[in-house]
Amino acid sequence: MNKMLLSVENLSKGFSSAGRQVAALDSVSLTIAAGETLGLVGASGSGKSTLSRILLRLLPADGGSIRFEGENWLTLNGASLRRRRARIQMVFQDPLSAFNPLASVGTVLDDPIRIHGVVARDQRPGEIAMLLERVGLHADFAGRPLRTLSGGQRQRVAIARAIATRPSLLVLDEAVSALDVTVRGRILELLVDLQREQGIACLFISHDLAVVRAVSHRIAVMEGGRIVEIGPAAAVVDAPQSDAARALVAAVPRLVIDPS
Ligand SMILES: Nc1ncnc2c1ncn2[C@@H]1O[C@H](COP(=O)(O)OP(=O)(O)OP(=O)(O)O)[C@@H](O)[C@H]1O
Ligand SMILES: [Mg+2]
Repeated sequence: MNKMLLSVENLSKGFSSAGRQVAALDSVSLTIAAGETLGLVGASGSGKSTLSRILLRLLPADGGSIRFEGENWLTLNGASLRRRRARIQMVFQDPLSAFNPLASVGTVLDDPIRIHGVVARDQRPGEIAMLLERVGLHADFAGRPLRTLSGGQRQRVAIARAIATRPSLLVLDEAVSALDVTVRGRILELLVDLQREQGIACLFISHDLAVVRAVSHRIAVMEGGRIVEIGPAAAVVDAPQSDAARALVAAVPRLVIDPS
């Protein structure tokens, strides 16, 4: 875990809404090494999703720079952006709204394989079966409409789709927040397994510090568009230095049931 994959420097982004100027990102800097999981936590509105949308090139930045896989990521455009885009993939909170719910699982997985030419045409069905197996689903799932799957199964499909293009970075924005505790635990285990097997780096965004702690090597804490603390996961959780981190630690539910 030494090769630098992503380096964000002094990233800024403002929005004006109802005549008021909001600094959604205020000089944000961070790095992610190859194969590393960086957890990103912070209260609602602290700028987490804005950062992920800029990384995905869904939203332009106002200032600052991003180096990703040795390239100046924010100035890539046209064909070179289209080609490189597949290297960063996103897992959304709600796969049903991110994809066509009437589409079959096979179609959802085939789209990125076809668009990015991951394998030859005659090998696409085999590739889909392999991806399903990777995320713990039987190959038969390819024929099922997405909407007939459970929440956990849908999120497995979303992860399979995200890894289909063999990215080096996955961005997960509240990807397990909608799942119940048991299913969430299994999806987190799957993510950690995939990461170990394939060396994919992750930016894991959640407002739930306990979840972030379970999967992250380091944790960054955001408040009001700024990174107010960043460090090894254990240090941030066990000895938080900033008020924002302390507040998040205090909010972690105690998983102890007091029968008295
Ligand atoms: N398109 C937009 N137009 C105006 N303001 C926006 C827009 N997108 C985000 N903002 C504002 O930027 C700030 C950061 O929002 P962002 O969605 O990045 O927060 P977040 O940390 O992801 O919050 P949450 O935990 O609720 O998802 C907020 O004040 C938000 O209202
Ligand atoms: Mg958000």
